[in-house]
Amino acid sequence: MDVQEIKVFAPATIANVSCGFDVMGCCLDSVGDIMVLKRRSEKGIVISKIHGETLPMEPEKNVAGVAIMALLDALNEQPDFGFDIEIDKRIKPGSGIGSSAASAAGAVFAANELLNRPFTNHELIPFAAEGERAACGAPIADNVAPALLGGFTLVKETEPIKVIELPSIDGLYATIIHPQIEIKTSLSRDILPDHVSLKKAIHQWANVGSLVHALHTNDHELFADSLKDYIVEPHRSKLIPEFDNVIKASVDAGALGGGISGSGPSIFTFSKSEQIADNVKLAIEKIYKNTSIPFHVYTSRINELGVKIIHKK
Ligand code: HSE
Repeated sequence: MDVQEIKVFAPATIANVSCGFDVMGCCLDSVGDIMVLKRRSEKGIVISKIHGETLPMEPEKNVAGVAIMALLDALNEQPDFGFDIEIDKRIKPGSGIGSSAASAAGAVFAANELLNRPFTNHELIPFAAEGERAACGAPIADNVAPALLGGFTLVKETEPIKVIELPSIDGLYATIIHPQIEIKTSLSRDILPDHVSLKKAIHQWANVGSLVHALHTNDHELFADSLKDYIVEPHRSKLIPEFDNVIKASVDAGALGGGISGSGPSIFTFSKSEQIADNVKLAIEKIYKNTSIPFHVYTSRINELGVKIIHKK
C-alpha cells in the first residue's frame, strides 16, 4: 500500500571532524528535528507548520522545499500528488551541528518514502545538498551525507557528489557544547586563507588518512591522535570563547579529543563510553558557567542509521 504520511527523526551531524574540512562528517543520535510529510491531493509543496524557529514557509526559500524540488526534478514522471511538510525544528540554525542539513536530509528521505522509494539514500545526497546550497551558497555534502547514511562519511568527490561510508569506532560518544553566540557560516568561511603551506597540508592529509585507518581498525588511540586540524581550526577557534580550555578540560576528563563542529560555534569532543562523555559534559559546563554566555551541552552516541522513521501509514 502507498505510504500516505511519514514522521521522521532528522539527525544533527558533526561536519569536518577536525582534520576533514568539507569532506568528513558523522551522525548524532540524540539531537535532531522531527518532520512529518503527508501526501496532499493537489500537486506542489506546502510547508504548513514550523515549530521552534522562525524559518521561511515558502518552499522555494526553505531548504526542505528546495531539496524536495531537486528530487522531483530528477524524476522521469511527476507524482499525481503533492507534499505537505511540518517541521519541528529542534536544531538551532547557525549552531554548527547541521541544522539546515537535517531539514534537507529529512525532507528528501521522507518524500522518497512517499514516492515508494525511487532513490537509494546515496542517490538522495545531491538533492539534500541543493538544500545546503540554498542555505549557505554551496552544495556542501559533509553534513547531509552522514545525516542520510548514518555513521561516519567521507565526501570523496563533489562534482558529481560521491560519498564513502566509513565504519565507526565501538562505543563512541560525542559531547557537544553549543554556546549561544552567532557565527555566520559565511564569516567563518571568509576568514579562512586561500592558500595553505605545504607543511601544514602534509600534517593535515596524514591526519585524514590516519583518522580513516583508525575507524577501520577500531583504534581509539590513533583516532584520538588524528583529531587535529592544522589548517582551519587555528583561524576559527579565535571566534569561539574558551575553545582551548574546553578541549583541554575535555581531554583531562577522559575525552579522546575534539574540535569545532562544522563552522562553529559548537565544539565537539569524542569519548570511549557514555560515562566518560558525561564526565566531559560536567567539565565543559564548569568552564562555560564561568562565562556570561548561555549554552547547551548534549551527549550522543553515533547514529549508525541516519534519518529514522518514527512512523508511517
Ligand atoms: N564544512 C563546512 C565548514 C560546514 O566548515 O564551513 C558544514 O558544511
